[in-house]
Amino acid sequence: MNNFVFHNPTRLIFGRGQLSQLRTELDRYGKRVLLAYGGGSIKRSGLYDAVISILKEAGAEVHELPGVEPNPRLSTVRKGADICKREQIDFILGVGGGSVIDCVKAIAVGAKYDGDVWEVITRKAQATGALPFGTVLTIAATGSEMNAGSVITNWETQEKVGWGATPYSYPTFSILDPTYTFTLPRNQTVYGIVDMMSHGLEQYFHDATNAPLQTRWIEGLLRTVMEAAPKVVANLEDYEARETILYCGTMALNGILSMGTSGDWATHSIEHAVSAIYDIPHGGGLAILFPNWMRYCLDTNPGRFAQLAVRVFDVDPAGRSDREVGLEGIERLRQFWTSIGAPSRLADYQIGDDQIPVMAEKATPNGEIGRFRKLKQADVAEIYRMSL
Ligand code: NZQ
Ligand code: ZN
Repeated sequence: MNNFVFHNPTRLIFGRGQLSQLRTELDRYGKRVLLAYGGGSIKRSGLYDAVISILKEAGAEVHELPGVEPNPRLSTVRKGADICKREQIDFILGVGGGSVIDCVKAIAVGAKYDGDVWEVITRKAQATGALPFGTVLTIAATGSEMNAGSVITNWETQEKVGWGATPYSYPTFSILDPTYTFTLPRNQTVYGIVDMMSHGLEQYFHDATNAPLQTRWIEGLLRTVMEAAPKVVANLEDYEARETILYCGTMALNGILSMGTSGDWATHSIEHAVSAIYDIPHGGGLAILFPNWMRYCLDTNPGRFAQLAVRVFDVDPAGRSDREVGLEGIERLRQFWTSIGAPSRLADYQIGDDQIPVMAEKATPNGEIGRFRKLKQADVAEIYRMSL
């Protein structure tokens, strides 16, 4: 294992009816609250009304930032940070998916930064503080509810940048009630499932030696998601399956799976470059790209791919090489994602080869990406071509 320090300060409040805890949480902060949310799903589901009534009970003065986009934009972050500065906001509450939460993280940091928050996001400057913020999650996917990461898109320059400012960008609390994910449409449910599985896979292919427990945890997570996913897709209101998926999404990216290791994460950079230009859902992009990254990198360590194939996809290794076994595992991953309705080719989003050089350049801003296998621009371009 690599040396590590693990500290995750987010209070995780999980289960049916747990929104009632919001009142106690709010009492820890000042009364001037910015409520951020997305394009309206929380109004349709009734969650907005429930949150507003708790905010009122708590005596909060509520300012609102509606309309946070999927793949949240820098322009919205700037708008939110301006509101915080102008209205002397004490606390931010994000209600929604990873996009709302990521946006809130950037607003929280932007509110305490004198210049333009893009400088912090692009690591040209250090964060100088943050407003405290909490979240109510409505989609199982990113893990943003319990990590310090955030992904913001600058639509003017077509850059989608992952950043984080530890310790400032951890939510102070996150409330997760599986029933609030019932209204999530089937396609978004599938994207979330692909995303959390991809987080497991990114961390499975890491740079360390001797991390057997981390390996088993990831295998357990992947198997658990694969058991629950078909049930959720068949019945969007299956409480137990939604509960399992929601918990898995958080555990997949709250730091626990990668204690002592550094995951590969190239596929995330490769996907972010696609959604920066084409604005496609993150999980949809990953479903297309991950199996092709795996094929491309299979020969780097066929034994690792074979282990995944045997332990997660029940591939029979008898009499076959690691390479053959690993390849069958990759096929089974593709088949599984297809079986739940995930896309498999860039053509599914009408994406052709014309922007491949641009995307490959955006995916490798510092020359190389990946820790399990280092990839240069030409390697990334080949993975895009394999994904057409
Ligand atoms: O905007 P609304 O109307 O709320 O609709 C959203 C949105 O259209 C809808 N939705 C969410 N919960 C719902 C619902 N609709 C009905 N019922 C509900 N309960 O779903 C759509 C997608 O929401 P979004 O927040 O964009 O999804 P997700 O959580 O997958 O977040 C994606 C973003 O997170 C970034 C991605 O790149 C992308 O920008 N990521 C963030 C990470 C992190 N912070 O750690 C890691 C990830 O790898 C990822 O890169
Ligand atoms: Zn992801």
